[in-house]
Amino acid sequence: MRRLSFALLFALLALPASASAVIGGTDATRPYPYMIAFEYAPADDPNDFDQVCGASLIGADKVLTAAHCVYDDRNGDRRSEVVPPSSVRFLIGTQDLRNRTGAETIGAAKIEVFPEYDADFKGDIAVVTLQRAATKGAPIRLANPATEKPLWAAGKQATVTGWGTSIFLDPGLDYRNRLREVRVPMVSDADCDAAYPLDDPIRGDFYADVDVCAGERTGLKDSCQGDSGGPLVVPDASGTLLQVGVVSRGFGCGYPNSYGVYARVGDTKLYNWIDARAPQSATTTTTTSTSTAPTDGGTTTTDRSGETTTTQTTTTQTPTAFQRCMARADRVRGLSARRRAVRSCQLAQRRRAAYRRCTKRAAKLGTRSRRERAVRKCRSERRAAARRHARVLRAMR
Ligand code: ARG
Repeated sequence: MRRLSFALLFALLALPASASAVIGGTDATRPYPYMIAFEYAPADDPNDFDQVCGASLIGADKVLTAAHCVYDDRNGDRRSEVVPPSSVRFLIGTQDLRNRTGAETIGAAKIEVFPEYDADFKGDIAVVTLQRAATKGAPIRLANPATEKPLWAAGKQATVTGWGTSIFLDPGLDYRNRLREVRVPMVSDADCDAAYPLDDPIRGDFYADVDVCAGERTGLKDSCQGDSGGPLVVPDASGTLLQVGVVSRGFGCGYPNSYGVYARVGDTKLYNWIDARAPQSATTTTTTSTSTAPTDGGTTTTDRSGETTTTQTTTTQTPTAFQRCMARADRVRGLSARRRAVRSCQLAQRRRAAYRRCTKRAAKLGTRSRRERAVRKCRSERRAAARRHARVLRAMR
């Protein structure tokens, strides 16, 4: 049975993009005027801005994103530092990264990281001050911890949006140009804590004062790589959207019992820190929900080649080598280092899949000596691929 599902999985991955055979998140079904694309230029190519994260407009000239989105190792000392404002800019007022008409791009003037994140990775948020007030888009208000906590209690439906990757098991990392959305229920702290137990070296910890989980127990709906920094929102009684989370991390994407972890910005600790920089009483929102629920789940998201395939997760509870690899990569600090780590997991996964296909073919050969020769050939092909991939990764430095 497990064999079958693996074969099915690889068959699905091998299908052409147009055969979007399984369930998926959807393209954005409504305006999200607070949604911003976070673009970053690496040190060695200061004009090559690329979307790496999401962010939200929370004041006329204030942007909220994930702390881990503003760290990179720019001087090659293998430690990540907060990136200079000049390396960061924001695309405001469009859902399509290629269509910038009617949108604006504004640079960063100041980047502030939540101090406990800088010290020990707790509270994955940063507030960026723009070089000028935004004229496109519209800010979103954070849910007020004093009065609006019931809006995001466990079980309430929330929505997350992003331009991140669509297919967690994708052999290549693909991103979307069009904004995607997915609905996920809020998860209790007890369930989240069970999914991310303290001192678990693979999954990482959950801290109930600064983290909150969202997602289905069965997986399938989630944010993923490239969505980080983006907003998790809930409607209030009148349908106005309020921000309650910032995409931070997760064990894989869309895996069962492995909810997405979000920075808990609707609770006092993070709220107060943000409020001191972007006063929330000044933020009036115009974002009204029209509750057009996406039909079905699947890992949310996206790819820049227009693919719409979404991978149904057929994993068991024992983490695969790929899952473990991605979980490690998800906790690498620094944008370039993290991208490299993710890429490395994907390339290793691609090698494993190719090797598996190869040995399967070999096993079908008629004589024992032919089978053995074929398996040796699979091994040498795998080594050659590893060398090729190492070159790819080195080129990403
Ligand atoms: N850390 C990822 C990023 O940099 C986001 C991962 C979110 N994962 C999840 N399972 N919700 O984009």
